[in-house]
Amino acid sequence: MPGVLVTGGTGRTGKALVRELRAAGVPTRAASRNPDAADPDAIRFDWHDPATHGPALDGRDRVFLLPPVESVDPLPLVEPFLRRARRAGVRRLVLLGSAIVLPHAPSAVEMAAQVRAQPGGVVLRASGFMQNFLRPHPLADRVRRHGEIRTAAGDGRLGWVDARDVAASAAALLADPGVHARSDYLITGPQGMSYPEAARILTARTGRRVRVERVTEREQAAAYRASGMPAEFADALAAVERGIAEGREDRVSTAVRELTGRPPRAFAEFVSAHAHEWTP
Ligand SMILES: NC(=O)c1ccc[n+]([C@@H]2O[C@H](COP(=O)([O-])OP(=O)(O)OC[C@H]3O[C@@H](n4cnc5c(N)ncnc54)[C@H](OP(=O)(O)O)[C@@H]3O)[C@@H](O)[C@H]2O)c1
Repeated sequence: MPGVLVTGGTGRTGKALVRELRAAGVPTRAASRNPDAADPDAIRFDWHDPATHGPALDGRDRVFLLPPVESVDPLPLVEPFLRRARRAGVRRLVLLGSAIVLPHAPSAVEMAAQVRAQPGGVVLRASGFMQNFLRPHPLADRVRRHGEIRTAAGDGRLGWVDARDVAASAAALLADPGVHARSDYLITGPQGMSYPEAARILTARTGRRVRVERVTEREQAAAYRASGMPAEFADALAAVERGIAEGREDRVSTAVRELTGRPPRAFAEFVSAHAHEWTP
């Protein structure tokens, strides 16, 4: 039966997407390295085990593609999957990409270009997820334990988006493979926000005083490494903060409204919904 394969089906975006598609009556297969035994439409999928790719794609005509996480070189694993998806007759493939281009990671750019070039290929270039302020992200952990945001991004702004709005945008493109789509969307929240502004909103909405500690890019990279991120990825992520500080990531779009018919959630709304998360 045609339907959707959601890779990363247990993640923040994938889980919300599976829920939305199933609620809309779309047959949806949730992929994971450890599929839920209680879910009859869950399947094992591991980027590092190509033998799992064919069965996951079998009979599916649409795919949500969450590339290998925390990698600066996803293409070698994703390229054969894209070829396989084309051969399997996939009509729509939505890649969860990033608005921020990681430095020293050309293969992520090439992967997005290959998806755009594929018939029915769509790239969602998502801005920073508001969910980074929730555990287990290191940013969230520091806010909860120390009431502090450490950043090398200064007063630079980012168009923070709720991952549920990313999922809703993907659902709009995957529920009906015939719906008109561009090959690329910048997915953001309603407005740009700096870390000092985020700290002020967290303080006002939770009653917990949250302050900003300005650190260097090198210190930030060390902190990301210490949180368990692969070294190359930690360094690239810290380098991104320089671009934010310089104002290069201060962009917002109307894509969520265009795709879903409603405005994206604001950060203040997100904080109120998760206020318990930041109590020590
Ligand atoms: N955080 C941000 O600010 C941000 C901004 C823009 C774009 N993004 C992009 O969003 C993506 C992360 O999305 P998310 O936050 O929704 O995910 P997430 O919550 O971090 O979850 C990761 C997902 O990847 C799956 N996974 C991990 N290793 C895997 C492997 N070897 N093979 C197959 N699946 C694997 C996990 O499934 P199992 O563990 O169940 O296998 C899980 O479903 C990244 O690609 C990132 O570039 C993030």
